[in-house]
Amino acid sequence: MKVTVVGAGAVGASCAEYIAIKNFASEVVILDIKEGFAEGKAMDLMQTASLNGFDTKIVGTTNDYSKTAGSDIVVITSGIPRKPGMTREELIGINAGIVKSVSANLIEHSPNTIMIVVSNPMDTMTYLVHKTTGLPKNRIIGMGGALDSARFKYRLAEALEAPISDVDGMVIGGHSDKGMVPLTRLATRNSVPVSQFIDSDRLEQVAADTKVGGATLTKLLGTSAWYAPGAAVSGLVQAIACDQKKIFPCSTLLEGEYDLNDLCIGVPVVLGKNGIERIVDIDLSDAEKAKMQESAEGVKKTNGLLEL
Ligand code: LAC
Repeated sequence: MKVTVVGAGAVGASCAEYIAIKNFASEVVILDIKEGFAEGKAMDLMQTASLNGFDTKIVGTTNDYSKTAGSDIVVITSGIPRKPGMTREELIGINAGIVKSVSANLIEHSPNTIMIVVSNPMDTMTYLVHKTTGLPKNRIIGMGGALDSARFKYRLAEALEAPISDVDGMVIGGHSDKGMVPLTRLATRNSVPVSQFIDSDRLEQVAADTKVGGATLTKLLGTSAWYAPGAAVSGLVQAIACDQKKIFPCSTLLEGEYDLNDLCIGVPVVLGKNGIERIVDIDLSDAEKAKMQESAEGVKKTNGLLEL
């Protein structure tokens, strides 16, 4: 199993690290345009192998796509991250050009690959990959919901004063401060609806804190987060590599599901060796449906800025 991560920045490097530590891939290639940077990250990470007990070979390259040839899975993290006060949507101008050329280069060397898009604005970048690469829809996956759901579970556990392992919950919709739809109604603490433990005001606060999860960290860190994004990507990569058939909310092309068409947005999917093996069309309440429609309008507005 060969995995390529494009972008040796904080998200790309964390992603490569978590994939290596989980020890399911034979090789991880990190590619970056900055001379020597990916090679340095790869060497530093390889020097953790004996300490952390993994055998995955990590290779770094400065923009040499021939090193990525034959990748089963590729992850695009390249582009600029947001600065405090910026929305993910404001990154579109620079990142669209980068994602377009990176995805074309990757496919040239790995035509059968499954592509995971992380660069922001993620739902629009995933749609761009659909429009420009011709890859089948099951092989294009946008990573946002897995991260947003992890942040939701963190906030739920905090509100419930419970361990995170006792909590389950999912965020669908666009990966944006306004567009996320945390499914509070379906969140549980060990199978019991969370509404049995906290009142609706507290639950609303959990949802609000979840939606600005990335922005909160960007303000604290001065740039966008990397540990949870990296871990979320590694979860998707593992589910595909190990054919786990796990459900994650991912951004995928919708063709009528959730009454939505011609956009990529976060919905639950089953991930296995073929990438997105199934879209899970869950029964939403009327209020949740309305939020999903509103979120889709936001994503479509950003898609409208693409020069296709
Ligand atoms: C975040 C970025 C990765 O939410 O979108 O942290």
